[in-house]
This record gives sequence, structure tokens and C-alpha cells, in this order.
Amino acid sequence: MKAVTDHLPEDISPAGHDARALTDALRRKHPLVHNTRDEWVLLRHADVVAAALDDATFSSAVSAHLQIPNGLDGVEHDRFRAALDPFLTPEAIAPAEVAFAAVAARLASELPRGVAVDAVTEIGAVFAVRAQSAWLGWPAELEGPLVAWVDENHEASRAGDRERLAAVASDFDALIESVLAPRRGPEGTVIGDDLTAELMRVRVDGRPLRGEEIVSVLRNWTGGDLGSIALCVGVLVHGLADHLALQERLRAGVPDAELDAVIDELLRIDDPFVSNRRVTTRPVSVAGVELPAGAKVKLHWTSANRDEAVFGDPDGFDPDAHAADNLVYGVGRHVCPGRTLATVELRIAVRALLEATSWIGHADGLAAREVHPVGGWAAVPVVLR
Ligand code: HEM
Repeated sequence: MKAVTDHLPEDISPAGHDARALTDALRRKHPLVHNTRDEWVLLRHADVVAAALDDATFSSAVSAHLQIPNGLDGVEHDRFRAALDPFLTPEAIAPAEVAFAAVAARLASELPRGVAVDAVTEIGAVFAVRAQSAWLGWPAELEGPLVAWVDENHEASRAGDRERLAAVASDFDALIESVLAPRRGPEGTVIGDDLTAELMRVRVDGRPLRGEEIVSVLRNWTGGDLGSIALCVGVLVHGLADHLALQERLRAGVPDAELDAVIDELLRIDDPFVSNRRVTTRPVSVAGVELPAGAKVKLHWTSANRDEAVFGDPDGFDPDAHAADNLVYGVGRHVCPGRTLATVELRIAVRALLEATSWIGHADGLAAREVHPVGGWAAVPVVLR
């Protein structure tokens, strides 16, 4: 990354770095940096929030690929969100909670005791895939391919290998197609009444979604769900193993709202959903730096969530004081529509782990940090008792 300063030019590539450690060091010196991929990376809370709120200047139309609703702007974006958000309300999600609890309880009881278990791949990824399949009505046979996809997707992102990422994306489209095909009836009709079938019946502006639009929506729902939930579980289990007194307090029983606030704060301190892209629609000044129209911009949530100017000590744990400024689920027009679903899933996963154990501690053997552009932990070996 090339730092934006007259006196202290730096040229650091983010590749291979822990996104959190790197941006902690950069943010203290620079409000934004220009990286080796010609991206302007916004590191401070105020600038990230301002850019996310000014969506007319910071457009989300960053990709040549169809991205619904992520890559849409303005009124078109609103129309898709209005049609899709009803699938993600608390009322819409409530019926799936029993299935999530069953998935979590079964997994927690099956995990081996007294030996090292990896919280990211053996707990997080497996829980995410099973919970999501229950939510969308997908068959259990997809569990193996989906878990393998989560791993391969992280691996390809880490390697920054475009060809491999394209192959991962097309594998995923094929998986989704295998789910859609049996639900397609004659003459545009849809068979079944699960959530995937309901999505296939959605209409925007009076017309049904095209096949590629449905695939794009499912890619965004599942990408948000599978990858992020697995990484979030890793961060949360690491936090529980680090803070045994907190673990004890939560195990003794706290209301949902208190547990949710603890989870949000642990994720603020180590936000595994690292960044999102934008492109400027006009020249704009950010922290005194003039960006031209067409500049590639990154909103760095992981860095903004640790900005000393807002949170003081970035690692200071204070769920109540920090809730209003927490950016784990973004802000503005593109704020995460899956927040309630993610919150419910994470709460249920953490509760099940605490209820099925009397102690969760770090295993011998080092936990390994993820590297740019993935966040959080690649491996969190823990022992359950
Ligand atoms: C813990 C897990 C999750 C985290 C940390 C997370 C975080 C975020 C963030 C920061 C954004 C803002 C993106 C932007 O401004 O460009 C976002 C958008 C989005 N998220 Fe999530 N998310 C999570 C889970 C989910 C789930 C479970 C779903 C759906 C099932 C979901 C679906 C989406 C979609 C569709 C968008 C794009 C919204 C738009 O562009 O209008 N996310 N998410």
C-alpha cells in the first residue's frame, strides 16, 4: 500500500498481511492509503461512514457481474431491497429458529471432548452450512460440497487468484442451479413452498426475477451467510476462550439482548467482514485527499471498527458504549439486510456451545490469523469440556 502523505511514502502490498494488524498500524498515521491495486482504502470511522452514507458519490456499481442487490444504486437498488427484505425480517426468520437450534445442539453434542477442535472449519463452517440449508430448504446432500466451497472460496480469496475465484464462482452457480432446477415447473410455474421456491416467485416492477437474478440473490445471501458466519464463529469462540470470566457469565444465562450485544462487540473488535468496494461518480475530497471521478474505493469496516478516535482503546470491551458506532453490519443504503438472520444464528450457535460444555479453552497449538482480504482467524484450535 502507498500511504497518502507528503513526507512518509510507503509502498506496502496488503497481500499476506493480517488485515487488522496492518490497518491498525496504517490508521494511526494515515486516514487513507492508496494500495498496489489502485484502490483508495478508507481507514477511519468518520470517512467510512460518510462515504457509505453518500451513495450518490460512492457508487456500488463496482463489478461487471450482476450483483443483486449489492451492485445496484439508487432507486433500482431500493426496488430490489423492497422485494427481498421481507425474506429477512424477524417474523420471516422466526419459523427457522427451531431448526437452527436443533442443528446447533446436534453439532455441539457431536463435537469431540478433550481434544483440539478447530472452531472455524469444524464448528463455524459446518454450523453455517447446516443452518443455511435448513433456512433455504436445501437438501442435506449439499452439505459436503458447500463446506468444501467455503474453504475453497477463502483459499482463493487469500491467494488473490482471479482465475481460481472465477472457477469458485462458477462451481457455486452450478450448485445453486442444482437447487433451482427441481423447483421449475411447466410454463414458468414454481413447484414447492420452501423459501427458495418463494424467492423464485418474487416479482420486481410486476415481473418475475430472471434466472440469473435469482442466482445472484442466492449468491449474495449464501455468500454473506456461509463465509461470514463461519468466520464470525471463529472470532466468537476465540473470544470466549480468551475471556473465561465472560464465558462463565454467559453460560450462567443472560437475556438474548445482552448476549447479542456481547457478540456484536466481540465482532467489532475483530470484524471478519473486512471491506466493501465503491467507485466515485465525481471528484470528491476525503480527509483532504482529492479523489478523481472513477476512483476505486474500499470502505474498510475492520479498521473503522477499531478507530481510536471513536472507541479509544480498539480492544476495550464495552458493548453498551460502542453499540451505536459499531459498523459490523455496515451503514447507509446498503446496510446488511441479513443482520437479524446473522444475529439469530450466531446467538443460537454460541448458546448451544455454552450449554453443551462446562469449559471452552485454547488448545495447545497456535491459532492462526487469516490474511488479506479475508478477516478474523483461519484456525482457532480449542478444547471443549
Ligand atoms: C455475521 C454475518 C454478516 C456480516 C458481518 C455482514 C456484513 C455486511 C455488511 C458490512 C454489508 C454492507 C455492504 C456494503 O455496504 O457494501 C452487508 C451487506 C449485505 N449483506 Fe450482510 N453480513 C452478514 C450476514 C449476512 C446474511 C446472513 C445475509 C443474508 C442471508 C446477508 C446479506 C447481505 C446482502 C444481500 C447485502 C447487500 C445489501 C445491499 O447492497 O443493499 N448478510 N453485510
